[in-house]
Amino acid sequence: MALRIDFTNMMADVVTGGIDTASWGAAKREFPKVHAGLERRRKAGELGFLDLPDDEALHRQSTEYAKKFVGRFDDVVVLGIGGSALGPIALRTALLEPSWNSLDPKVRKGVPRLHVLDNVDPRTIGHLLEHLQLARALFIVTSKSGGTAETMAQYLVVRDALQREVGDGSHRHLVFVTDPEKGALRSISRDEGITALDIPPAVGGRFSVLTPVGILPAALVGIDTDALLAGAGDMARRCATSDLSKNPAGVFATLQHRADVKLGRHIQVLMPYSDALRDVSDWFVQLWAESLGKHAKPNDAGVGPTPIASVGATDQHSQVQLFMEGPPDKTITFIAVDSRPSDVEIPKLHEEVKELGYLGGHKLGELLDIEQRATAGALARRGRPNMTIHVEQADAWHVGALFMLFEIATIYAGEMYGVNPLDQPGVELGKQFTYAQLGRADAEQARQEWNMLPKPDPRFSV
Ligand code: PA5
Repeated sequence: MALRIDFTNMMADVVTGGIDTASWGAAKREFPKVHAGLERRRKAGELGFLDLPDDEALHRQSTEYAKKFVGRFDDVVVLGIGGSALGPIALRTALLEPSWNSLDPKVRKGVPRLHVLDNVDPRTIGHLLEHLQLARALFIVTSKSGGTAETMAQYLVVRDALQREVGDGSHRHLVFVTDPEKGALRSISRDEGITALDIPPAVGGRFSVLTPVGILPAALVGIDTDALLAGAGDMARRCATSDLSKNPAGVFATLQHRADVKLGRHIQVLMPYSDALRDVSDWFVQLWAESLGKHAKPNDAGVGPTPIASVGATDQHSQVQLFMEGPPDKTITFIAVDSRPSDVEIPKLHEEVKELGYLGGHKLGELLDIEQRATAGALARRGRPNMTIHVEQADAWHVGALFMLFEIATIYAGEMYGVNPLDQPGVELGKQFTYAQLGRADAEQARQEWNMLPKPDPRFSV
């Protein structure tokens, strides 16, 4: 089991326009201060995600719940948004068989399907409720705050459907994942005897995948949650050093931060060469964007990199042209999977046809790996900095390690940019304007501000 970052192609020795040795030397000297910043926050009790790999009691909340309900449900549905949904989606894509929800129940060995509703688009939720057998479905309502408009709206729709279908027993088809004390979900759970599992107070939404937010759905569908936490724990231990050359999260954050502020590489692409890991990119995009894109000082222009999700080899036929020849404002981080439990041999057919013959006898996984190396090399050749995170396998252990790597890197990057990576003040105004238009009682001030906004101008409409 191993995770390794090869950042040769980020360095000026290899790539014109990369990070030079002097800058890297300075980064190494400065890193102990950055690491001390993380340690300060940890000691202040703000970085609860670091303790999750060792929190056996919290892990048991999910595994024991899952054990009790083996065989009782055909469908598990997560209701949530942002940090409450992207983790479960990434876990499902990475660690369940492809097209899991379409497999025959016998092939799934009676393990439920897993759906994640991460939006309030009526088409999606309407369609799902129409086709689910509600009497055999479990809904996990996930919200750290216990009051997010989208999740509460989903819950109300589901609750009503359940009440009509299963009547008084509807609470047996619901489990909440929320703050241990605060919020509307917690009080409903107390009033109605609905089981509620905990998101520890010191773990924010986008850092919560290894709490019951991700672990409960994972346990319900048979994902190896011990391995997930073990991989995360291993990464947390590797990152417990202020020696930059030994700290993978420190290396990732330092390279990205320097590339952004010193080399103008403001756009940072995460590109796994693996279908299993493609939704880890979406999870990362939220983590990196919501944590780092903000004001470092009141009224400054704003700081923070712009993350982009990409997947190889698919996006070689889409975004890679831009990465190669577009503005030199990007870094590309590949994730390469070094070994696969199974591969598919490409048959030797049409050997006389130039475009097909050379493929025969190779394997699909081999082709994917070669394409990743070829793309990394081509980018380097054109002066486009890139690095590769090698994971031995796309399994639970390595996915846990990736989550922890990026979470710790986010805290370091927050220190480097001088922002608080744990808050998200920028999303508040939009929420208030939504409340204002929906008539929420405590949104009077937002209502006034909303009413004063300029109305659509016919001159600027076509
Ligand atoms: O990372 C975050 O804090 C956010 O993206 C939240 O996860 C998102 O807003 C959902 O919040 P909650 O879990 O409180 O419903």
